[in-house]
Amino acid sequence: MKKKVIIITGASSGIGEATAIRLSKEGHSLVLAARREDKLLALKEKLITEDSNILIHKTDVTNRNDVISLVKNTIDRFGKVDVLINNAGIMPLSSIEEGRVEDWDKMIDVNLKGLLYGINEVVPIMIEQNSGHIINVSSVAGRRVFPTAAVYCATKFGVNAITEGLRQELSAKYNIKVTAIEPGATKTELQSHIPNEEIKKNFAKRMETVTFLEASDIAEAIHYAISQPKHVNVTEILIHPTEGP
Ligand SMILES: NC(=O)c1ccc[n+]([C@@H]2O[C@H](COP(=O)([O-])OP(=O)(O)OC[C@H]3O[C@@H](n4cnc5c(N)ncnc54)[C@H](OP(=O)(O)O)[C@@H]3O)[C@@H](O)[C@H]2O)c1
Repeated sequence: MKKKVIIITGASSGIGEATAIRLSKEGHSLVLAARREDKLLALKEKLITEDSNILIHKTDVTNRNDVISLVKNTIDRFGKVDVLINNAGIMPLSSIEEGRVEDWDKMIDVNLKGLLYGINEVVPIMIEQNSGHIINVSSVAGRRVFPTAAVYCATKFGVNAITEGLRQELSAKYNIKVTAIEPGATKTELQSHIPNEEIKKNFAKRMETVTFLEASDIAEAIHYAISQPKHVNVTEILIHPTEGP
């Protein structure tokens, strides 16, 4: 496969980190973005291979200037962007009646607006290149709603809508592929930030009865989408734990 220049947001842990590890094995050039620079540095050390080129960029995706500089630095270093993996996301679940409006704002800022900021920076570059691939990490929560996740689901339904809209507007016209990756329950840090202790405990209990997906399982799906030939656009990959509902 041709070596690509790939930006991964949320690369400091979980699915983003596993994706960086998987894609570095293919010798792609990777740009790793997240807020925790120490984690990105540690990951970079792990990834150094003979033919891989790694750039790290401290990025808060809710800050538009950070995202502008992320993409600009990628172009300065590598001269192109083949793939943007919009993976950064948060899931501070709570019931609507708790009224955690700040958490709702944060989910909308990271999961939706952050994703859009990235898209806005790479689209003109990909149009100019007449090639590109935008991969949005959505969720099973982008396909069905469950209690305590109304706002999280709303963001992921939104991610799916944006993904399909992008495909309709850009794919045929500019040779830009667009993919939604929709994982089910995956073992990462995501659940550890749930502020409601009871919801957090329920997740932990579920982990005792269901074998959760590994972050590397999702990384494999992302690698699959990226490695298809030019005429194949993998538009959606939904992955459940085998024992999950
Ligand atoms: N785990 C699951 O069960 C599951 C299921 C379906 C979908 N997903 C989706 O998968 C994606 C990755 O999550 P994960 O499960 O791998 O969880 P994770 O381990 O918590 O990783 C989330 C990543 O997002 C980054 N992030 C959070 N806020 C950010 C911000 N403002 N700016 C930049 N980066 C930010 C974090 O980095 P910093 O904190 O260093 O910024 C971290 O690298 C998310 O979109 C999530 O919704 C996960």
